This record gives sequence, structure tokens and C-alpha cells, in this order.
Amino acid sequence: MCGIIGYLGYREAYPILISGLKKLEYRGYDSSGIAVFFENGYNLYKTKGRVHELEQKISSYRIKIKGTMGIGHTRWATHGIPDNINAHPHVSNSNELIMIHNGIIENYYAIKIILLKNGFTFKSKTDTEVLVNLIEYIKEENKLSLKEAVRISLNEIVGAYSIAIVEKSHPETIVIAKLGSPLSLGINEKEFFVSSDPISFIDYTKNVLYLKDGEMAILKKGKELDLRKIIDNHRLNPIIKQLKINLKEIEKGKYKYFMLKEIYEQPKTILDTLRGRLLIPEKIICINGIESNKNIFINAKCITIVACGTSWHASLIGEYLLEELARVRVEVEYASEFRYRNPIVGEKDIVIVISQSGETADTLAALKLAKKKGAFVFGICNVVGSSIARNVDAGAYTHAGPEISVASTKAFTAQITVLILLALIIGRYKSTINENRYKFLCEELGSIPEKVDYVLKTDDIIKKISQIYHNVNNFLYLGRGINFPVALEGALKLKEISYLHAEGYPAAEMKHGPIALVDETMPVFVIATKKGYYNKIIGNIQEIKARKGKIIAIVNEGDIQVNMLADHVIKIPNISEIFSPLITVIPLQLFAYQIAYIRGKNVDQPRNLAKSVTVE
Ligand code: F6R
Repeated sequence: MCGIIGYLGYREAYPILISGLKKLEYRGYDSSGIAVFFENGYNLYKTKGRVHELEQKISSYRIKIKGTMGIGHTRWATHGIPDNINAHPHVSNSNELIMIHNGIIENYYAIKIILLKNGFTFKSKTDTEVLVNLIEYIKEENKLSLKEAVRISLNEIVGAYSIAIVEKSHPETIVIAKLGSPLSLGINEKEFFVSSDPISFIDYTKNVLYLKDGEMAILKKGKELDLRKIIDNHRLNPIIKQLKINLKEIEKGKYKYFMLKEIYEQPKTILDTLRGRLLIPEKIICINGIESNKNIFINAKCITIVACGTSWHASLIGEYLLEELARVRVEVEYASEFRYRNPIVGEKDIVIVISQSGETADTLAALKLAKKKGAFVFGICNVVGSSIARNVDAGAYTHAGPEISVASTKAFTAQITVLILLALIIGRYKSTINENRYKFLCEELGSIPEKVDYVLKTDDIIKKISQIYHNVNNFLYLGRGINFPVALEGALKLKEISYLHAEGYPAAEMKHGPIALVDETMPVFVIATKKGYYNKIIGNIQEIKARKGKIIAIVNEGDIQVNMLADHVIKIPNISEIFSPLITVIPLQLFAYQIAYIRGKNVDQPRNLAKSVTVE
């Protein structure tokens, strides 16, 4: 994780670095630092804490940081606790090389031992300080230029990195390199912007180069970009793309937190995901990446879906959808498990990878493994041009727009929407859905944004329920069938932003263990929609009531039975069970938000987490 940034040009670097780092804080925010260069020297400041704390610290020194080149970092700790010393930038022993890094150097310890034997000393516990000193060692031993020393050192590295490094005596040059962690370069006529995410330089340029794995670039003031392969120094032709981001999408507007804004955006984002793909009057659904690989989808005997976290929950929903509508066997795997097994995936198989960021290290590694095994890999990603999006055989973007809050909400419903479209398309190809049902479902799908809008109006009821339970420490979330993954997602949302314990469970499994936890202090969310398993769910509610648990039920409009049993009800519109996760998850997202808000947590940037998990 971590966010890195750099600037080289004619403007003052400091404000560009600070504002860019603030936009990268979703990648990590436990410490931050900058170095701004002038002739033969630099100002370096770093601190434990967020970028605004760094800014405050610098302004308390009452100095003006001047210079038109600089680098900066916002950290998510891997090696060494978050503190002033482990914060980046890191400086080599001679004080000559200054570096920032995102990723993990796996063989750092072996390298550190060699460097220690050669007289190097270390202030921090980081792998980054080892790498910057390795570069120095190789540079000095072999009398190399910085560029060549970086290249040779990186060929010795096992792990993942995106780095930017500067030599104190040559403050007109930045060397950057990438393997595994994202790195983009913004380019204007007389300036370069380096960043983990182009979102941080969009105010200045829309010309972007996404470095590929194994590439490095030498940025020199007033000179053309020099792009090289790390392995053999081969010169490459840069391919510059145009960024398409609407600035409004990355502002909070009237909302206190991005999470709330993103929850409220869902009627629009679901519509955006459907736009141009679902033609309601004609009852046509089309996604190009599926259409052009029609036979692969028709003939697949098994589809494996691989993802992490919330995207993994969407994958579980995908399993129900594809099995129900397309009658194809589906396996869902955690990417981190899939990549280290020897999964049975072969040439006729489809592997679907799902990722909001498109940068999750485990998902990317799983993708590469699936491709190596000959599978056809289909991606469902939100971030356009992300590493996963660039590496799949075909795919569909979710079009949810930038998701800034660490807790994923609108990306989740957009992923489910793509999975619904996918299941309906394959079902139609294979005639596993009859024509009448298909037409009905197309029609109903079109009505979902409106229904989500309706559920958002339950926020006042949810606020009241949150007031009652915000001091409770344990929550249970129950669902059955396609709403079981929604229960998992509701529990995850609460855990990650409120730091409360919550567990999601298939409702009937509860009596095989978790029911022992239920007493009069335990609130239990139950997704009790009318279709599907209604009578069974009523039985489960009775079991909880018999143990004095408190029931917060999500029910359909017009419900009578659960209404009578539950302590609180949240009413949602009627919808086919297979589409219901798009509706039932909304109150759970709102509840998690309200509890975190009442408890005074930083909703958008919960402790220990980062938006893009680019380390395994
Ligand atoms: C939870 C959350 C995470 C992500 C997970 C995968 O709210 O956001 O669990 O879902 O880290 O991230 P992506 O989808 O970017 O691969």
C-alpha cells in the first residue's frame, strides 16, 4: 500500500506534493513525509500521522520550503511501526540518495546482512532503507550513474515496488521504477508528476503514462522522458493516454464523509453500470467483452471467481446468480488462498477476477497464475486502466466512479450489477432462462435504481436504531441463500469502520455454534425478505427471540409475521430474490456508517486499513 508522489518542473513543488499526498491518503495514512530539493541540498520533513499533521509540523517551523523538485510519501506500515523514523523518505548512509517506496522487498533481510557486513548502518526498521542503501552500495562500488545503480539493484530484488529516488548532488533528475505496485506519470511540456494514482495530479495534467511492471524512467528537467526496461536497459516508446476523471467525483460535496456520499450515489452508480448495456424496451443486454467471447462462456464447465474482501462477498453473490440463471458450476476463492494452492484450472475454464481498485496484490497474482494455467481470465474492475484491468483477457468496468472511502459501498453494488448482467447474458445464450422470465428480469433490473433510492429514505429509522445500539460491542448478521453474503458484508462494514465485533452467518448455521453468544444484549440483524426462505427465517428469528436476542429485521413492504416478532424493522421494496442483495445491503451500509459516526470514528480512513491493498 502507501502512496508515493513526485514533482519535477517549474512550479513550487511543496504545495503540489502536499495536495497530492492528501489525495493518496486512501492508500495509507499512518505517517507521511516530503523532501524538496534545491541546489546541492534538500529539506526533508516526516512525521507519524496524517498529511495535515505533516503540514502543521512544517508550518510550525515557520520556514518557507522552496524548490521545484520534490518527492513525498504517505505510509501504511509493513516493516516497522508507524513513527517519525520509519516514515519515508529514507536517506542513504552518505546522505546522498533520498528515496520513497510503495511495496515490499521480500529479500530485504538477506540484503541488510550483507550491507551491515560492509559497514552500513540503519536507523529505521524498513525494507526501504535497505533498498536505498543497496543502491548506494552498488553505485559506489562500481562507480555507476544513479540510473544504472538503480537498475542493477532492482534486478537483485524479490518483491514488489514502485519507487522514486533522487541524488542530492543532481536535483534535476528523478529515477522511478515499478514492479507490482502501481505507478503513473503525468506529463506536461516542462514538467513531470509521479504518483501511485493519477488522481493526485489531475488538476495539472491529463496526459498520463502508466508504467508497466519491470519498467523504469529517468525524468530530467527540460528533457524528454527516458523509459527503459529494468532487466536489460532496453529503451521503450512511452505510450501516453488521456485521463478521464470528473473532478466533482472526487469531492465530498454536501456530505461529511465520502462513505455517506458513496452510499447515496448508488441509485446513480447502478444506473451507470447498466447504461448502454441494458436496453429495457428491446430487452437486450450486451457487454462487449462477453459478446466477443461468447463461445468461451457457453462452453465453460466451471467458472472460478477470485477476489478479496468486499469484492469476495460480491463474488459469492455471483455464484448464486450464475448457478441460478446460467446453470454453470461456480467456485469462489479468496485470491490469497488461490494463488498459493495448485488450483485445478485449465484451458477450457473461465476465471473471473473482481476488484474495485484493480491493484489488489493477491488478486493480481491470482490473475497471473490463472493465465499461466491457460484459463480465460475475465475482469470486473472499477478503476479504469488499473493493473488488473490491463492484464485480463477481457472484462467489464463497473463504472461506479472513484470510490474514495476505504469501506467499499458503491463498488460492491456495481460489481453485483455486472454479475447480474453476466448471468443473464450467459443464461440467454444457453437458454437456461425461459424467455418470459428473462424479459421480466430485464424490466425489473431497470427499476432497481429507483428502489435503492427508496431504501435510502430509511436513513432516519436507521439513525434511531443506531442510537439504541451504538454502545453494544457484538453484533450478529444473518441471511440465507443469496442474502448470506450480504450478511457477511454487513458485518464487515461494521467491523472495519466502528471497530466493533460483528459476525455474518448463514441463518440456519447459527444453531451450530454462534447461538451460544445470543443473550439479551446481542443485536441480531436478520435479512428476512419475503421470497426465498421466509418461513425458515421466521424459525431462525424465533430461536433468537427464545434466547432474548434483539432482532433488527430487514423485511419487504407489507410484511406481517416478522414485523410482529422483530424489535425493529427496516422496510424495503419488493424485488425478485436474485436481485435483492442490491437492496438489502443498503440499510446495512447506512447502519455501519451511523454507528461509526456516533462513536466519533474517522469513517473514511479507519485505523490499520488502506483502500488499495498492494501488498500481499
Ligand atoms: C472493505 C473493502 C476491502 C476490499 C478489498 C479488495 O470495505 O473495501 O475489503 O474490498 O481490499 O479490494 P479490491 O476490490 O480493490 O480488490
